[in-house]
Amino acid sequence: MGKIIDGKQISNDVKAKIAEETAQLKEQGVEVGLAVVIVGEDPASKVYVRNKRLACEKVGFNSYEYALGEDTTEEQLLELVDKLNNDPKVNGILVQLPLPEHLNDKTIINNIRADKDVDAFHPINVGKIMIGEYSFLPCTPAGVMELIHSTGIEVSGKECVVVGRSNIVGKPMSMLLLHESGTVTMCHSKTKDLKAVCRRADILVSAVGRAKMITSEYVKDGAVIIDVGMNRDENGKLCGDVDFDDCKDKASYITPVPGGVGPMTIAMLMRNTLTAAKQQNGIL
Ligand code: GUN
Repeated sequence: MGKIIDGKQISNDVKAKIAEETAQLKEQGVEVGLAVVIVGEDPASKVYVRNKRLACEKVGFNSYEYALGEDTTEEQLLELVDKLNNDPKVNGILVQLPLPEHLNDKTIINNIRADKDVDAFHPINVGKIMIGEYSFLPCTPAGVMELIHSTGIEVSGKECVVVGRSNIVGKPMSMLLLHESGTVTMCHSKTKDLKAVCRRADILVSAVGRAKMITSEYVKDGAVIIDVGMNRDENGKLCGDVDFDDCKDKASYITPVPGGVGPMTIAMLMRNTLTAAKQQNGIL
């Protein structure tokens, strides 16, 4: 049986360090604030937003939550973003995605001040990721890197396979692995013989959103498996992209779902918000 990477524990360690630093900043008169905006009633989004608020409380940030109705217009949402951009108490701004269909994600994200864009979704921050000049690391890929580092395994020179090419996870994930000198292959729905490509991986990261798609046939002996998926199985139970029971004996390390990547994403959001606050106060 491979070792289980305990994302919950690692995220708690990260948050404890952030809490310490936040308390020190407070002594210097600097408070940290995160604004989270949710539009509409998506149940999964509501859970994510609640967890972000709880994490803020845990590390000592001020959290400002804006729950807007489904029928909010683009003009109204942009007005709120503009207000938050100009509010010195707000160091980080996160607009929860997906937005209702009549609102354009890109328009909204492009109007968040880049130095408050703690998701790292703004084109300026995406561009910085490409050239390895990070202000903010994208939260989920950054969380995955922390989990890989926790194993003590070096990325340099390893075969890394990323399944999924989303702007939020797959693409930035590949960049972070590349910056640590991994040999990176990106796979997607048009990849031929996905199994054979995945079986090359020393480090396999799956972010496709298909329940238990990655079985032991996709896994090389001793691989590190990181599961970014958050799906429901045939019984409605939360599960990842990876068939955990089938793969756990072949992997050297494997993340569970839940309790793997999920908690890390939020911990990295807290880290980005702290970074934003320090930058805006001239501390970094
Ligand atoms: N929806 C799902 N994941 C995320 C995320 O990381 N950030 C935002 N803003 N919305 C999301």
